[in-house]
Amino acid sequence: MSDDPPNPYLSGLFAPVHDELTAYDLPVTGRVPDALRGRYLRNGPNPLRVEDPGSYHWFSGEGMVHGVRLRDGRAEWYRNRWVRSDAVAGQLGEKLLHGPRHLGMDFAPNTHVQPFAGHLLALVEGGSLPYELDPELYTIGPFDFHGTLPGGLSAHPVLDPVSGELHAVAYCWAWPYVQYVVAGTDGCVRRHVDIPVRGRPMMHDFSLTEHHVLLYDLPVVFAPHRSGTSFPYVWAAERPARIGVLPREGRAADVRWLEVEPCFVFHHMNAYDDGPGGTITVHLVVHDRLFVGGRTEPGAATARLERWDVDLRAGAVRRQVVDDCPVELPRADPRRLTRRHRFGYAVRERAGTGAAGPHAGSSHGPAGGLGAAIVKYDLARGKSEEFRAPPGGDIGEGVFVPSGPWAAEDDGWLLTLLYEPVRGATDLLVLPARDLAAGPVARIHLPVRVPLGFHGSWVPDEPPPRA
Ligand SMILES: [Fe+2]
Repeated sequence: MSDDPPNPYLSGLFAPVHDELTAYDLPVTGRVPDALRGRYLRNGPNPLRVEDPGSYHWFSGEGMVHGVRLRDGRAEWYRNRWVRSDAVAGQLGEKLLHGPRHLGMDFAPNTHVQPFAGHLLALVEGGSLPYELDPELYTIGPFDFHGTLPGGLSAHPVLDPVSGELHAVAYCWAWPYVQYVVAGTDGCVRRHVDIPVRGRPMMHDFSLTEHHVLLYDLPVVFAPHRSGTSFPYVWAAERPARIGVLPREGRAADVRWLEVEPCFVFHHMNAYDDGPGGTITVHLVVHDRLFVGGRTEPGAATARLERWDVDLRAGAVRRQVVDDCPVELPRADPRRLTRRHRFGYAVRERAGTGAAGPHAGSSHGPAGGLGAAIVKYDLARGKSEEFRAPPGGDIGEGVFVPSGPWAAEDDGWLLTLLYEPVRGATDLLVLPARDLAAGPVARIHLPVRVPLGFHGSWVPDEPPPRA
């Protein structure tokens, strides 16, 4: 027996599940609103087999997508399916799906799941292709945008609600550049721009406004020999931090770089501008530093919601803390993306878990989860309210669904997974976005625990009209 502590990413609420289930007519406490007709989907790591549990990192597990189908006031089904990379299909004894590859990479995307142009895509960053899923979460195969995607994509594309186009910034350990990609509503990439960067930075997210693209070139770089885990990116203290601003239709030479204090950004909430070459405003979660020694250490990272005003005339970035209590997984109304918004949502982190993951030494380790509450921000009034997880519970990312296509910005629901300790299983909560503190209008009781994971989407039966 080893004396090493168990890997926190393989135990407690992180522990992978071993079965794929399908359950129908789920029990519901409360009532599912009739307007919710579609599927809530969420992706996350769920390793099939871990060769070296000591070095396993949460970010490297094969993706499993969990889904709940809502219609006519009912929760019709829950199902969970691994994304079938060749490695996953092989271990499950299934035939391989084949299809395109980027640099031969075969990784089951574990980070996000999002619809685009009639395709449902499981997403990951780092150079691997998205994988397309069918409506019941079976894998169709790797998806390269009908042969038009030059490399990989990313886990955080932005779907412009005005144009219907998908924008992303991809990075890859093998590239001396990052790649801005725009796919049209026909599902084909119509434009890409290779932007040179030094040192293979990790760029988990980017921001998009009506006129600009914002790049986060920050001090986390590819260095597998320094990481000590299966996640090959580390904090590089020697590296300057900067953000790049590209006009939407600009070329690489048009990128303007502005230095910022060293920090790391996983996620922005939303961004908007006041015109070409003016000021870009972005709300984002800022970590002081991350992946020091390959892991996040409890207390070593703080994750604050900040507002950055990128003043292109003055060549300066003004930073303002919106909330100094740690949060992550920020989201906004998808109809407001790239345009001025008033409301946003995030998950309040449990004290002592660090930013993007826990650590075995934490007294609030993974058994207690990561998410203590879900927070709604009124950014115009400087107010917030929250819904708290029960003791021992854990709450995940909130996905906003408007009550109708023309409903006001916060008129709708937040869908989120809550690990419910009394049941020892997970509920899908339907929270009223206008009154989070009132608690859920419906709790859909899933038959199992859904391991802690990352990002999700609501896929309505009828695609929303353009904003
Ligand atoms: Fe993310």
